[in-house]
Amino acid sequence: PKQTYFEDYELYQWQGTWYSPAHLEGTFAAQKLFEARDDDIILTSSIKSGTTWLKSLVSCIINFPQGDDDDPLIKNNPHHVVSTLEAHVFVENLDISTLPSPRIFHTHLPYNSLPDSIKISNCKIVYIARDAKDTFVSLWHFLNTVRTQEQGPFPIEEAFESFCNGVQFFGPSLDHVLEYWNKSLVFSNKILFLKYEEMKRNPKEQVLKLASFLGKSFANDEELDSVLWRSSFERLKNLDVNKSKSGNVTGFAKCSFFRLGTTGDWKNYFTKEMQERLDRIIRLKYEGSGLNLEI
Ligand code: A3P
Repeated sequence: PKQTYFEDYELYQWQGTWYSPAHLEGTFAAQKLFEARDDDIILTSSIKSGTTWLKSLVSCIINFPQGDDDDPLIKNNPHHVVSTLEAHVFVENLDISTLPSPRIFHTHLPYNSLPDSIKISNCKIVYIARDAKDTFVSLWHFLNTVRTQEQGPFPIEEAFESFCNGVQFFGPSLDHVLEYWNKSLVFSNKILFLKYEEMKRNPKEQVLKLASFLGKSFANDEELDSVLWRSSFERLKNLDVNKSKSGNVTGFAKCSFFRLGTTGDWKNYFTKEMQERLDRIIRLKYEGSGLNLEI
């Protein structure tokens, strides 16, 4: 099946998920060609859920920069520090064979569509999930960044309708989150499920949990603080490399990945009807799963 999305995009459905044509090609290639190694780290997320933060954090935990000179985030947007399989690696044909171990990759693919080698090997998966209402607002802003002044922002009501129907890049996003949540309960040694809201509320605790899952520890509190600071929204947003309005991350300016970086912004956009409708969908989907992403 095919759908037009945000007027500008065509989406195609594959294995229950909506893809742009380019992402779909990347997905086919990743499913066929990606050979996970046991010590790979695979970051996964639905879109606009904290991917940029997770990429930055894991890159800092693994490479632990001693200063700016060996901090890759100074010179590169986080999406170029950690590549997304279906968007960079298999679309731009990156040579990943020479990457040092442990290799860090990211994917927006739902669990069901992951390359088999990721599921079969001993590689670790870290998932980041975010409250659906904030995810929607973030997504709406993000897609508006590529619209011209004449076009103006996309009508939020139509965007909301699409979101509620699960029609979005790599959507439906609620199913994406729920599937990883359920798998993380079964394969708790392989999949770590993180929540954006919990990371905002208690960053030290969450980053310690993340590091320990990846087999890393910090010598002292300063090291932990340094990782948190290097990957913080405030720092990354203000680095020259991320201010660029022209720099390209699969069609989006580098600056568009840093907007507010807070929780609860949905309250500034949702009508009572929108809130009731999405809350009802969330209740129906997540009921009985034990999953709660509310602040
Ligand atoms: P907002 O639009 O609500 O500000 P993704 O990285 O999955 O595309 O998600 C983007 C969202 O994460 C945006 O949310 C963005 O501002 C926020 N974000 C980016 N970097 C972050 C960081 N280092 N810490 C916290 N949030 C971050």
